[in-house]
Amino acid sequence: MRAEARRRAGVRAGRRKAAGRAAPAATWSGRFAEPVSERVKRYTASVGFDTRLAHEDIRGSLAHAEMLRAAGLISTRELADIRRGMAVVTREIEAGRFEWSLDAEDVHLNIERRLTALVGEAGKKLHTARSRNDQVATDVRLWLRSQLDAIALLLRRLQLELVDAAERHAAVVMPGFTHLQVAQPVTFGHHLLAYFEMFERDRARLADCRRRLNVLPLGAAALAGTGYPIRRERVARSLGFDAVAENSLDAVSDRDFAIEFAACAAIAMMHCSRLSEELVLWTSPGFGFVTLPDRFCTGSSIMPQKKNPDVPELARGKTGRVYGHLIALLTLMKAQPLAYNKDNQEDKEPLFDTADTLRETLAMFVELVPGIRIDAARMRAAALQGHATATDLADYLVRKGMPFRDAHEVVARAVRRAEETGRDLAALPLSELRGFSSRIRSDVRRVLTPEGSVAARRHVGGTAPAQVLRAARRARLRLRG
Ligand code: ARG
Repeated sequence: MRAEARRRAGVRAGRRKAAGRAAPAATWSGRFAEPVSERVKRYTASVGFDTRLAHEDIRGSLAHAEMLRAAGLISTRELADIRRGMAVVTREIEAGRFEWSLDAEDVHLNIERRLTALVGEAGKKLHTARSRNDQVATDVRLWLRSQLDAIALLLRRLQLELVDAAERHAAVVMPGFTHLQVAQPVTFGHHLLAYFEMFERDRARLADCRRRLNVLPLGAAALAGTGYPIRRERVARSLGFDAVAENSLDAVSDRDFAIEFAACAAIAMMHCSRLSEELVLWTSPGFGFVTLPDRFCTGSSIMPQKKNPDVPELARGKTGRVYGHLIALLTLMKAQPLAYNKDNQEDKEPLFDTADTLRETLAMFVELVPGIRIDAARMRAAALQGHATATDLADYLVRKGMPFRDAHEVVARAVRRAEETGRDLAALPLSELRGFSSRIRSDVRRVLTPEGSVAARRHVGGTAPAQVLRAARRARLRLRG
């Protein structure tokens, strides 16, 4: 552990306060002829980062202790001692008074050691019928489960903001792009609801990940299970798990749930990053489609005119590190023989950072989206460039009886003329358009406007303002279900 990380975690390095007193033996040290070196201790300890699991560790221990009591493995009195001791430990941790020690290696042994100092014998019995291997697997699952729930809520809030904004801007026309070239007019509301769909899939993926995560490893002990008459279903129920892990070897060594979560997070970050990229483009003067409130932007130390979209840029940048964590976790697991290996300790930092980054990014967007101000006139003006309604003209000719391929060719020629004379297709006068096909009549005008174009696409999934409003209504219902 780096000194800096140690300071942050408030971990005391090695030495005890009372001079001359030998460092306390590690929990497993009776077998060893010499203590581990300070460097090894620092290298192998996880207490610099796994204290984030303290709450889940205590919760898991209390459920385990209750089971030990029910199975007759500890007395009622001992259970009461453990509960009383854990209440003290909890208070100490919450008040920042708990002395995390590198000697006790990780969050589990630190808490157990403090418990034993507080309540004696009962503390020493807590580890009956379990191992740190099934303990840590349980803690991480509990921790991640609450993160999943928090993230799902944030996704939902972001989706609501998107639906609200989509309704506000249901009829605002803008160019839709393919290849970042103007393609066809769309409504801004429709564009926003595309992101609703992405985040809806993210929520579904997380819910699916949660189902597989919510299985109890405790009872697997070190790897082979335990000879004590344990009651795993009871522990599962009290910790809110849906089932107990079926195989003890798998229970202690499986980190699929972490990888799955990282994959879900990577995809969700990718969605945030795409939205970010669009905001960066749209706020640049060349587009000028939207402005972000000043509180989300910063200036330049040299260029007085600058207003930079830092928040979306950073979200785009942070996406890379979440991808990195996914690869780190996959690589962590790929060569591990069954069952637990110390490698697994390396699952925590990527996992913590993945959850933090996604949570903070989503929370940021929940605030940012309602702050987006649009310049509807600029958006519409941009939709009047690039011959965005060329497809509409082709469709018009099809409605007048021309086969689509022929219509495509007629319009292509008209576009070429417009290009050569520096005009938009929609700006060509009727007489000139009729030169390309006599089927074109004055009713073509509406067809060539962005409003006419979007209004025509009124089927489910289409960009028409009326359909956007209906889609927004359906979206709200889906969020409720
Ligand atoms: N700190 C360890 C981890 O994070 C806890 C489990 C240790 N188990 C062991 N057999 N050394 O994975």
